[in-house]
Amino acid sequence: MSTVIPQDASALSANGSVAAWTERYTGAVMDTFGPPQRVLVRGEGAYVWDADGKRYLDLLGGIAVNSLGHAHPTLTAAISAQLGTLGHVSNFFGTPAQIALAETLLRAAEAPDGSRVFLTNSGTEAVEAAFKMTRRVASSSGVGTRTRVLALEGAFHGRTMGALALTAKPAYREPFEPLPGGVEHLPFGDLAALDAAFSPQAIAERGEVAALVVEPVQGEAGVRSLPPGYLAAARRLTTTHGALLVLDEVQTGMGRCGSWFAYQQPEIGGGIVPDVVTVAKGLGGGFPVGAVIAYGAAANLLGRGQHGSTFGGNPVAAAAALTTIGVIERDGLLANVREVGALLRQEIEMCGSPLVKEVRGRGLLLAIVLHEPVAPQVARAALEAGFIVNAVAPDAIRLAPPLILTAEQAMDAARFFATLAVEPVPPVVEPVETPSDQSEEDDA
Ligand SMILES: Cc1ncc(COP(=O)(O)O)c(C=O)c1O
Repeated sequence: MSTVIPQDASALSANGSVAAWTERYTGAVMDTFGPPQRVLVRGEGAYVWDADGKRYLDLLGGIAVNSLGHAHPTLTAAISAQLGTLGHVSNFFGTPAQIALAETLLRAAEAPDGSRVFLTNSGTEAVEAAFKMTRRVASSSGVGTRTRVLALEGAFHGRTMGALALTAKPAYREPFEPLPGGVEHLPFGDLAALDAAFSPQAIAERGEVAALVVEPVQGEAGVRSLPPGYLAAARRLTTTHGALLVLDEVQTGMGRCGSWFAYQQPEIGGGIVPDVVTVAKGLGGGFPVGAVIAYGAAANLLGRGQHGSTFGGNPVAAAAALTTIGVIERDGLLANVREVGALLRQEIEMCGSPLVKEVRGRGLLLAIVLHEPVAPQVARAALEAGFIVNAVAPDAIRLAPPLILTAEQAMDAARFFATLAVEPVPPVVEPVETPSDQSEEDDA
C-alpha cells in the first residue's frame, strides 16, 4: 500500500502557489463553499499572507473568530502548554481548564447563583444544545413539555438539523426538510407579531411557547440590530408565559460588540437577564470552542444523560478560550473595540465614496451598506487591494476584524473604501444567490 502522506506535513506551507493549491483544493475538498478566494499560509496580528507571499489586512477575522488576530504569542503558548500537559480526557473526568472556563463565562455573564455552562466545539452545537433545552420546558399544566419555538426572519443559527430549523433562509433549509418541527419564524423586529405569537388564540391553536431564540444583532442577515426595546419586551412576554429567552451570541458575543455579550449594553438589552446564551466564534480566538450558558433554573433543563459531546470541554480548547478572555481583559480590548470600532465606522461613513450609503452595527461587527448591489465586486476589489472583507448581502460588506485592530489599520481600511467609485465597479453579472448558493455571501 502506498503511503498516505506523500510529503512532510510540517513543510506544507512552503510548497506551492495559490493557483496550485486551489487546484488541489477543488480535487480533494467537498464543494460546499466553492473555490477558495486565496490559499493562506500564515498570519501575524491583523495580517495574513497567501501562498504567493501577498499580505492582506484581515478585516473579517475568520468571520468574527480571530479575536486576538493571528498567531498571538500568549494564545499559542497557552495552547501548546496545555497540549503538552494534558491534551484530552473523556467527560468521565474534569480538568482545571474546563472548570475555570465555565466559571469565567458565568462571571462574564454576571449569571445568578445556580447558573451552569455546557461546553461545545462550535456555534451550531451550542445552538443545538439550546434547542434541546427548549424541548424540556414543561407545559403550564405540568403535563408534558412544550414544542413551539419562535425565531425571527433573517435568523442564522447554524447548519446542523436543529440549528437549521431555527435558521430562516429557505435555500439553506429546503434541501434538508423535514427539519425538527415546531419552529415559527416571526417578522424581524416586529413587536406586534411577537405579541400575537403569545396571544390566547395562538396558544389555543398551536400550543404554549417553549422559547424565543434571537440574535441581538443578526450577523448573517447583514448586521441588523433589533429595534430598541425589542429584547426588553421579549423578556417581559417570555417571563409572563413561562417561555425561555434564548440569545444566540455566537457572532456578537465575547467582546465583538464592545461588551462581553451584546445584550449587556443597555441600548441593546435594556437591562434584561436572558435564560440561555450561546457563544462560539471568537471565544477561542481561532481554536474551535463554543458554550451554552444557562441562567438560574434553565441550568436544570438538561439532566444527566440528556446531552453530551466527546470533545466538548476539551482542555486545550478550554485553555484557548480562557487565555483569549484573559488577554481581552488584560489588554483592555473591550475598550479598543468600542474606540476603534467607532473610528472605523466614522472614517468609512465620511470617506467620500459615492458608493457608501451608511455603516451599521456595533463595536467591531459592522456592515458597510452600499447604494448599489455590488458587494461581491467590492469584496473582490478589496482582496486585490490587500483587504479581506465579506459580501454579507448584495448591498452590504461585513467587517469583523480582530479585536486588536489599531487606529492606523482602521484608517488604512477607510482609505481603501474612499477609492470606491460607483462607475468602476462592474455591474452584477451573476446571480448572488442560488439554491446551491456558492455566492460570496455564504460563509458558515
Ligand atoms: C448567530 C450565529 N449562530 C450560530 C452560528 C453557527 O456557528 P458555527 O458556524 O460555529 O457552527 C453562526 C455562524 O455564523 C452565527 O452567526
